[in-house]
Amino acid sequence: MKILITDSANSAAQKAAFFMQQFVIDKPNAVLGLATGGTMLKVYHHMIEFFKAGDFSYANVQSFNLDEYVGLAGTHPASYRYYMNENLFQHIDININNTHLPNGQSDDLPAEANRYENAIHQANGLDAILLGLGKNGHIGFNEPASSLASRTRLKTLAKSTREANMKYFKHIDDVPKYAITMGIKTILEAKNCILIATGESKAQAVVDMIEGPMSANCPASALQMHEYTTVILDKAAASKLKNLDYYHYVHPNGDEVNL
Ligand code: PGA
Repeated sequence: MKILITDSANSAAQKAAFFMQQFVIDKPNAVLGLATGGTMLKVYHHMIEFFKAGDFSYANVQSFNLDEYVGLAGTHPASYRYYMNENLFQHIDININNTHLPNGQSDDLPAEANRYENAIHQANGLDAILLGLGKNGHIGFNEPASSLASRTRLKTLAKSTREANMKYFKHIDDVPKYAITMGIKTILEAKNCILIATGESKAQAVVDMIEGPMSANCPASALQMHEYTTVILDKAAASKLKNLDYYHYVHPNGDEVNL
């Protein structure tokens, strides 16, 4: 794992945005995996800024989001389709028909999960995937005890996840109990993984992901098996790491060093 520790949550987001932009510059028809959540708002803010200031296009990019709630229409303000349209897609030149999320309103949710997994394969897989980290170590909605070999499927959300996402709903009872999420194996098949975590509330999950044993108890620890994972942290999220000095030594200021 490449571990980049930046001074602030904003510089971490900027760095993640820079990586995502670079994938598109290098491969204009890149297939990107995308995430939602509070942390990503800043990442998308910077991706939009870079797009407006830059000389590149998302017109031939395809995107697949990690997950979507079961039962919410894309017009529901807390749905991930709505989030993506509002916070990224409508601000860049991506073709909305090339943006994919699972259909959480499907009549046949297991079939929809299989269709989504197959659609990723038909697109020749993900060139890069952007990931957040749950306080409980989840990536996508792969909650603790998810199979490290899992594929896109229906998943029951953990109580802590529903509580963390309560802020987007009027009442805890309104937070969906289920989601369709890419599986851990689906994520590991992406050619590059970029995970961003900021804030002290993520510090323990960061330790479990990077320095803990690989375990379904911390689904993000499966990234230890991925050849090209970059973890971008701010100081607070990195604060509990045992080998912090080493990570700073390898990448001073969170920068890449060309040898
Ligand atoms: P957050 O969510 O960015 O809102 O903390 C991250 C996640 O649960 O994956």
